[in-house]
Amino acid sequence: MAAFSPQALAEFQLILGRYPTKRAATLPTLHLAQREFGWISPEVMAYVAGLLELPPIKVYEVVTFYTMFHQKPVGRHVIEACATLPCALNGAEALLEHVEKRIGIRAGETTKDGRFTLKKAECMAACGGGPCLQVNGDYHEGMTPEKFDRLVAELA
Ligand code: FES
Repeated sequence: MAAFSPQALAEFQLILGRYPTKRAATLPTLHLAQREFGWISPEVMAYVAGLLELPPIKVYEVVTFYTMFHQKPVGRHVIEACATLPCALNGAEALLEHVEKRIGIRAGETTKDGRFTLKKAECMAACGGGPCLQVNGDYHEGMTPEKFDRLVAELA
């Protein structure tokens, strides 16, 4: 059964102290769980629901709504490519095709060596800088195929 480490439990208590209700702490608790376990399995969803005294379906709804929560194991580097209209108008589709070719997987997949996971994402609130990627949570705006190739080389 999933369970936070003592350090994560202490952090969870700090999180709870910042919110008026346990339910309001759902998002930061899920971020903590993702850091702790690497991804949000059904078992982790049930554990978080227990901590927050919520029906598991409420946690499931949040996890499946936000693309930043990983519902399966991911690679060492998670690349999220914005596919929403403002980025699409700036070439996001062609960029995604380049990214897929460059790392050899399609969106939604992880490389066999566990190095990269590629996900399509909804708007990352950086629309003015599209096309936009997040790599391991860091924003990369105005992304081009050339910039992406340099980024991959740096991650090697
Ligand atoms: S549409 Fe891509 S960041 Fe908003």
